[in-house]
Amino acid sequence: MFRKYLSMEDYYHLIYPMRTILISSKSGAKESVMAADWCMPLSFDPPMFGVAIGKKRFTYELVKESKAYAINLVSPEMKGKMLTCGTKSGRTIDKFREAGLKREDGKITVLVGDSPASIECKVVDEVGAGDHVLFVGEVVNAVIRKKDRGIYHFGDMRFAEL
Ligand SMILES: Cc1cc2nc3c(=O)[nH]c(=O)nc-3n(C[C@H](O)[C@H](O)[C@H](O)COP(=O)(O)O)c2cc1C
Repeated sequence: MFRKYLSMEDYYHLIYPMRTILISSKSGAKESVMAADWCMPLSFDPPMFGVAIGKKRFTYELVKESKAYAINLVSPEMKGKMLTCGTKSGRTIDKFREAGLKREDGKITVLVGDSPASIECKVVDEVGAGDHVLFVGEVVNAVIRKKDRGIYHFGDMRFAEL
């Protein structure tokens, strides 16, 4: 029988791989873009998504203040830029510039113009979940720029393109 022991904090990896996206947000003049695996559709009608954001992230502050965020798909060619957004904080740097991402104005928040598609959500609920908060968002706008493959995260620095 195959058995491998994981520590409790690593149990979430049992459901991986998960698609990595970029969450963009802005509050006043403050903006950021972060990488995120923990994103899922929640409702057909009205269309809703949920994203789980760690309470220590700069993005958490921006989404909490502005009650808005965008989910931006990541194509394989954006991998390096996604890693910059997933390892540095927008608290101290301009991540659009640092990662070399194209900044685009959306209807209620900022979008990543390089992404194959961006989905803007208005926050309608927040659910505390330990060290993260699940921001429940209702879709207010979607921009589809092209069809492309995505990046799937297996944990650590292991990714696949599909
Ligand atoms: C592949 C990948 C996936 C990530 N997924 C999440 C996630 O789902 N939720 C989260 O809060 N942080 C996640 N992170 C960490 C944030 O992207 C990272 O802490 C980022 O620097 C936060 O930026 P900010 O401080 O500008 O908001 C992920 C990082 C990587 C590299």
